[in-house]
Amino acid sequence: MNNKSNNLAIVGGGIIGLSIGWQLLRRGVPVTLYEKDEIGQHTSRVAAGMLAPYAEVGFEEVEIMELGQKSLQLYPRFLDELSEDSSSVPHLDRCGTLLVGIDRDDTEHLSRLYNFRKELNLKVEMMTGTEAREREPLLSPNVVSGVWLPDDGQIDNRQLLKSLKEAFLNRGGTLKENAKVTRVHAEHGTCTGITTEEKYIKHDSVVITAGPWTGDIETPASKLGIRPVKGQILTLQKTQECDPSTIIRSPRMYLVPKENGTLRLGATSEEQGFNTEITAGGMKELLEDGWEVVPSIYDLPIEEMIAGLRPSSRDHAPVIGESEIENLYYATGHFRNGILLTPVTVYNLINYILDRQPSQILHLCKPDRF
Ligand code: GLY
Repeated sequence: MNNKSNNLAIVGGGIIGLSIGWQLLRRGVPVTLYEKDEIGQHTSRVAAGMLAPYAEVGFEEVEIMELGQKSLQLYPRFLDELSEDSSSVPHLDRCGTLLVGIDRDDTEHLSRLYNFRKELNLKVEMMTGTEAREREPLLSPNVVSGVWLPDDGQIDNRQLLKSLKEAFLNRGGTLKENAKVTRVHAEHGTCTGITTEEKYIKHDSVVITAGPWTGDIETPASKLGIRPVKGQILTLQKTQECDPSTIIRSPRMYLVPKENGTLRLGATSEEQGFNTEITAGGMKELLEDGWEVVPSIYDLPIEEMIAGLRPSSRDHAPVIGESEIENLYYATGHFRNGILLTPVTVYNLINYILDRQPSQILHLCKPDRF
């Protein structure tokens, strides 16, 4: 695309939309970002901020893990660049993940996870319950097994949202909040603009970063079938007696210690459409599942209960790249790993938008694979 003449539209103001906009602005492209509500009020805010490709990888998801690994490697560069454009940038905390089990089923599950990671030559250590407690003394005496993944990390995703908004504005981006985009237009197979608030606005290129709401935007491209997967999550206030030093995860929950003095305990996974109600059952399960592994959470004050929506594609891989409509791009469907996959998504997509550089990553995530 011709950098000078284009005013590119981004549709969706979460971490991925803001990051793509900010990075394009750094490369001299004028950008207008449309967000249906206010910036960063949905998925990116509710997320726990884990940067955990090694803990989250499922048995069939090696390529998604590799994507996460690449993205984690890109995080220091991403944050360095952000510090040039924003007054405060969150810290990349390489705290590792400790997976733990409390019975024979869990231990069997953990040893399969361990073997799979060993086969992939990842840094991983199998532990007894005693060894796991030596690493994290807050663990219950009932913990009988552990798997230590030292290379995982985490970040304060809410601070990241604030920093990205500031960087986007400092670089001269135009932000349209409470501006719902209902339609993307094309002529002769090429993108021409959008409709928002019943007004047509010309844009030569459009990037849809609308996460779970991707399907609400009418486009001339094929449907992607992104669906929302609800997650309820709790924020607890840490105390001196309960201040874990790593991410702790059992097959039923995760606990993520944040720098701002909180602990995030998540998350349910529910197929409920766009319902974001907090339920008694959801909270009960999270608290019980957290308490069975770290009993001292019992005394922690609850700061927040919230639910959000993960954007899931049919194969759980993100959708990144150009659609069959020229200059209509997607960066969506990041499911459980949106915060982690931000740098790899952003750098690969903008290299393609600006210089038509293809990449193996964009091949894996092609919008037309469905
Ligand atoms: N990545 C954590 C979650 O989706 O709950």
